[in-house]
Amino acid sequence: MKAIEVSLGARSYPIIVGTGLVERLCDHLPKNGKLAVITTPIINDLYGNLLESIGRTHDLIMVPDGEEAKTWETVEIVLGKLLEYGLDRKSTVVALGGGTVGDLAGFVASIYMRGIDVVQIPTTLLAMVDSSIGGKTAVNHPMGKNLVGSFHQPSKVVIDPLFLNSLPEREIRSGLAETVKYGIISDEEIVKIFENTPVEEIGQEVMVEIIAKCTAIKARYVEQDERDNKGIRASLNYGHTTGHSVENLSKHEINHGEGVAIGMMVAALIAENMGLVDREMRARQERLLKKIGLPTKVPVLAIDEMMEVMHMDKKAEDGRIRFVIPTGIGSEPLLEYLSEDIIVSALRELR
Ligand SMILES: NC(=O)c1ccc[n+]([C@@H]2O[C@H](COP(=O)([O-])OP(=O)(O)OC[C@H]3O[C@@H](n4cnc5c(N)ncnc54)[C@H](O)[C@@H]3O)[C@@H](O)[C@H]2O)c1
Ligand SMILES: [Zn+2]
Repeated sequence: MKAIEVSLGARSYPIIVGTGLVERLCDHLPKNGKLAVITTPIINDLYGNLLESIGRTHDLIMVPDGEEAKTWETVEIVLGKLLEYGLDRKSTVVALGGGTVGDLAGFVASIYMRGIDVVQIPTTLLAMVDSSIGGKTAVNHPMGKNLVGSFHQPSKVVIDPLFLNSLPEREIRSGLAETVKYGIISDEEIVKIFENTPVEEIGQEVMVEIIAKCTAIKARYVEQDERDNKGIRASLNYGHTTGHSVENLSKHEINHGEGVAIGMMVAALIAENMGLVDREMRARQERLLKKIGLPTKVPVLAIDEMMEVMHMDKKAEDGRIRFVIPTGIGSEPLLEYLSEDIIVSALRELR
């Protein structure tokens, strides 16, 4: 088992990573106070039996699967259940699921009785290395994704790669794109693990190591810029500017991790064109992504529409678009506001 501390003064919490942790939930959840587990029917069918290891009474609240969970209507329904079950300020919400459940349950916990504890138990790779850590919670609004939310750090994050056994391969690859992101912006060791191990041979032990490294990186960024307003946490958006546009315009046929992979290739080419990295950096990143089975070329989408999405992104400023530009493998990236022509020429070159 590996333990990583997120040091945020009174809001500090541990992230624990290990195989089989969720078979003894009684060891990781509070002994006192009411507990309400929020999950989806799919996850409950697959893993509901693990909840017996809580070893004491708890309430179970089902929410719809995927983005459907992240609505204001679901928030109201869940709040109503928490009231009905008599949860009070000393109670704890347990988020058991992917990033959608985590974001919803975190948000509910942040407003229920002005804020109660939430323990995150992520079940997708993306949630394990990204969304369960850092305290960003949100639901969607008809006007856009994640527009209503709060910062509410969990009281603990319990990560068990056991859940990955049932996760579809494409979801795993999507999550692996985020782990590559961490490797490039902060830790060459992660990159080396992938270079030295065939993806199909990555067992749970290596997965624990990868996840622990990624969560430690995210923890350090969150500690320095908890509310994401100092331009530090922004580095975690490596690959995401182009990624979001590709995801959106493909109507999510290209998933999040695939978009991020493409976005990292675009950012690396821009870095090369700016003279910040050599050709080998980009080639190495490309080999790595290909090895994992992620796309590395910009798909055939209208470039002007891609630029439009990037401009609408909250990261745009004065007609310039915020980009995280790599400076090497495992080294701190730069945050740059780029003009359209620099991006467009990279997109054309990478078609
Ligand atoms: N709060 C943050 O900092 C942050 C960061 C990144 C992303 N997010 C949010 O995370 C969400 C995406 O999260 P996600 O990728 O985990 O998606 P998700 O929660 O929708 O899960 C993806 C699919 O996998 C299924 N699933 C989950 N665990 C499974 C398992 N162990 N076995 C089989 N199937 C399983 C789910 O039912 C769902 O259909 C988005 O809403 C995004 O906005 C939040
Ligand atoms: Zn991401």
